[in-house]
This record gives sequence, C-alpha cells and structure tokens, in this order.
Amino acid sequence: MKSGSLVFLTAFVALAFSWTGFVLVPQLQLGRLEAAKTVPAGDAYPVARSGQARQGAEVYRSLGCVYCHSRQIGQQGTTVEVTLTSVGTNAANVLSAIQKAAPHLAATASLASVPQVLGQVADTALADDAVTAIAEAGGEATVAILPDGPDIRRRWGRRRSVAQDYLYDPVVQPGIRRFGPDLTDAGATRASAEWQLLHLYAPKTVVPDSTMPGYPFLFVERKIGKTPAPDALPLSGTFAPPDGHEVVPTEEAQALVAYLLSLRADAPLYESPVTPPPAPATNGVAVATK
Ligand code: HEC
Repeated sequence: MKSGSLVFLTAFVALAFSWTGFVLVPQLQLGRLEAAKTVPAGDAYPVARSGQARQGAEVYRSLGCVYCHSRQIGQQGTTVEVTLTSVGTNAANVLSAIQKAAPHLAATASLASVPQVLGQVADTALADDAVTAIAEAGGEATVAILPDGPDIRRRWGRRRSVAQDYLYDPVVQPGIRRFGPDLTDAGATRASAEWQLLHLYAPKTVVPDSTMPGYPFLFVERKIGKTPAPDALPLSGTFAPPDGHEVVPTEEAQALVAYLLSLRADAPLYESPVTPPPAPATNGVAVATK
C-alpha cells in the first residue's frame, strides 16, 4: 500500500482547492457584506422584506418561477445627461457659459424652453463643470446618471444588480433562463396587486398572447356568500366563473404577489449609481425605449 498516502494527498489537495474556490473565496469577498447607504440621500439599503413578502419568496421558490425568470440586471455603461432647468435672467450669458464648458451641448440648446435636456457628456466630472459654469452665469442645471445596456433598455431594471440587492434573501435566486422577462424591478413596472393576481390566475386575462402558464390552484372558486368577497378577481368573458361563483386568492397567492411587489432595485448606490427619475418614468429617461 505504498501509494496509499499519495492517493490520500491527491484527494486532500483536490478537496482543499475546491473548498477554497467555492467556500473560502466567496466568504472572504461577500461574507461580511453589510447594508449600504444610498447616494446621496444616505438611506439604509436594502430594507428587509415584510413577513408576507418573505413567505411569498418561498412560494416563488416552490413553484419554480426561477426556471423562466431571472432576477439580475446587466449593464454595459452609463450615460451622463445634463438638463437645463432654468436660464435665470440672462439667457445669452448661460448660452456662452455652456459653449465654453461643453461646446457640443450648446449646439442643441435653444434656451427657449426649460427644462431641456442639453445632451450627454463623457463623465460626471465634465457634467459637474458644465453645471458649475451654468450656475455662475445665473442659470441652473441638473445631472442625471443613466445606466445603459440591453436589460435596462427593456426596462427590466434601472441599474445593474449588485450583491447588496440580495442581502436579505435567505435563498438567492438570480436565475439563468429568461423565457419570461427579468423580474428585478417587477414591483415598480407592474405595481398593481390586481394585475399581478389576474396574471397569476390566468396570464391571458391581462397579456392576451402570454405563454406563461397560469397558476389557478393558488385561487379558490366558490359560491358567492351574502356579499361578494372584496378580493374576488374581476373576471369576465371566457375567464369568468360560473354564475353565482367567485374566484378569490389564497394566502399563498397574496404572499406571492406581496413578494413580486417588493421586487425593485432602483436605489442609487455608490457601487452602481443611477439617478431615479423625479416623477413617474416619463421624463428624461432617454435610454429607455419600448
Ligand atoms: C414557462 C415559463 C414561465 C414560468 C414557469 C413562469 N413564467 Fe412568468 N412569464 C413568462 C413569460 C413568457 C412572460 C411574458 C408574458 C406575460 O407577461 O405573461 C411572463 C411574465 C411574467 C410577469 C410580468 C413581467 C413583466 O414585466 O411584464 C410576472 C410578474 C411573472 N411572469 C411572474 C411569474 C411568477 C411569480 C411565476 C411563478 C409562479 C412565473 N412567472 C412563472 C414565463 C413564465
């Protein structure tokens, strides 16, 4: 048994290597990850999910939603956009200030209407210079950092996903397949609980050409009591239950929807900066097309 110790040593080294790679290195990199602060507001991020949403995460896991949906946003870069918000009392002054600080922005600036997106600059330092110059000339401008990339253009998320996004998830389910859209920001893009419930019951009620399977077993169909239940689904046409019946969500369905509504990742972090739009997503999100 001369080679016994050699076999043992080889096995030991192989196991030690894989343990280092799969356990030790990730632990050193992320083991002590703590909640971050948003920039510049300084709010704690992330905030733990509610108990109901945590139960919903388990339902999500048990139903295998992860086989079709990812929860991770990729990003290829950022664009830095300067928006003129006020020209003050001397528009000509502001225009010449813009011309000096960032000539290519002045080409499109008409100064007739504010707020006006002046255009994009290479980095935040240049943008800050332009803002300072505009301020010195008596005007006002703001800078927006807009992450860019295919996932973001599809409006699946506002910025790339970072480790903190998953800090309070006991089981992280980033997913690897995308038969359906990424759900990172589902709580913001599909913010209606009623929409989510209808979609779970029968996706075609709200997305006529949907290929997602329905989950009707998360609901009960029952005779309407004295008065219809307040949370009964507003179903009509082919989806309507027989006369005198109603379809109501079970606790599992409610929890799953609470989880889906808790999904958002738009907090601006040092690691992944983004300027959230001030009003509902209609203003200068120039990169998002749909
Ligand atoms: C067989 C693949 C598949 C499975 C499994 C699946 N989905 Fe989907 N899902 C899709 C497809 C395809 C779409 C896009 C069409 C639509 O909106 O119905 C979608 C859309 C969605 C949307 C709307 C997203 C948006 O931004 O429009 C949500 C929310 C969603 N699914 C949640 C779930 C949940 C929760 C589960 C598990 C209970 C699940 N899905 C299971 C394929 C799937």
